Amino acid sequence: MTAPDYDAIVLGAGAAGLMCAAVAGQRGRRVLLLDHAEQVGKKILISGGGRCNFTNIHTAPDRYISANPHFAKSALARYTPADFIALVDGYGIAHHEKTLGQLFCDGSAKQVVAMLLGECAKGGVDVRCGQPVREVTHADGAFGVAFGDQNFTAPNLVIATGGPSIPKMGASGFAYDLARRFGLKVVEPRPALVPLTLGGGDVLFRDLSGVATPVGARAGKTAFREAALFTHKGLSGPAILQVSSYWRHGEPLTIDFLPDAAPGWLLEAKRARPRATLAAALALPDRLAQTLAERLALAGELGAQSDRKLAEAEAQLKRWPFHPNGTEGFAKAEVTVGGISTANLSSQTMMAKSVPGLYAVGEAVDVTGWLGGYNFQWAWASGYAAGQAL
Ligand code: FDA
Repeated sequence: MTAPDYDAIVLGAGAAGLMCAAVAGQRGRRVLLLDHAEQVGKKILISGGGRCNFTNIHTAPDRYISANPHFAKSALARYTPADFIALVDGYGIAHHEKTLGQLFCDGSAKQVVAMLLGECAKGGVDVRCGQPVREVTHADGAFGVAFGDQNFTAPNLVIATGGPSIPKMGASGFAYDLARRFGLKVVEPRPALVPLTLGGGDVLFRDLSGVATPVGARAGKTAFREAALFTHKGLSGPAILQVSSYWRHGEPLTIDFLPDAAPGWLLEAKRARPRATLAAALALPDRLAQTLAERLALAGELGAQSDRKLAEAEAQLKRWPFHPNGTEGFAKAEVTVGGISTANLSSQTMMAKSVPGLYAVGEAVDVTGWLGGYNFQWAWASGYAAGQAL
């Protein structure tokens, strides 16, 4: 038997693959990092509007969705936002907190990619891009990868090829197909952090395209308070993207249009301003206020409405039901919920329990974060865990 070419082959030079390869390389492992794209870290480059929201200082396991909510704990505890911030600071990359603990580069996401490539160079990682991975084999304890017209072998293989969101950037279900071939289960993937589409009785709201307002959005037991945006297809904005990860087809979504209003505010408004209309009393953008008042069939002055009707209107404005008929799909989804089942992986090392030497990291795994830097933090943390173990 010939000696393997490398100690590890990492498939996918995105956030998780770059981190994993750099960490393993700096531990003295001979690492080959392969990507079919011409350029590494393409999603990092477009993230955060080009400024990369690279972590969130409020990272905690409860900000992640997974069939096993405990799985992410170990990796997140061993590589924290503070660790990544220290790395970024070490490269002199200026950054700021935008809102809700979200850290962005002051300059450009290119700095984060350059930093990760710098870390790979320190570890002597062999980075190769721009060829398809034609075949993956496994025999006699070694993985073989056919990359373009070259073949490489290693005793360790890391699946870091991400999820299928944004297929036009080359994203695909490659990770899932490969995992299944090795007998790993895949939790049904679905688009997440994605705009929702409206039809049926909600279709009229599409006329409000462009209107944004702070709301409380709820799907099932999970609610977020951020801005919602009406679009020509339905609903978007941070609050909607966040709940979209929890929303299931056929379920309603409720919106609290006045999350800061005290209970009884509408009866109070009737007493204080009896000549005002409901639309005028609503502290909301004009077009939205008009539409809601029309839908509540509350034209005319507040003073002319019964208290019961106003109490009902207030209740409806607090939990306005929408019935999305779908999402804008993987084409518009920032991430994927679901993926390689955590039941098949070690939470300490990310190695497959049934296939020694096979690892999965990043978005390919069934761990999905909230909007706001949580997904990169998972990519860094899971990449680090595998990089330490290889
Ligand atoms: P990632 O997708 O980054 O990398 C996978 C790599 O594998 C890619 O380089 C790809 O080319 C390669 N690959 C795929 N198939 C292959 C194959 N068959 N053969 C070889 N290589 C293959 N998150 C966050 O925390 N903050 C943010 O600001 C944003 N912003 C954002 C904006 C947009 C528009 C999107 C789409 C996503 C975000 N995200 C985000 C999410 C974040 O980008 C995502 O969670 C991470 O990039 C996941 O890192 P991975 O390394 O797992 O996959």
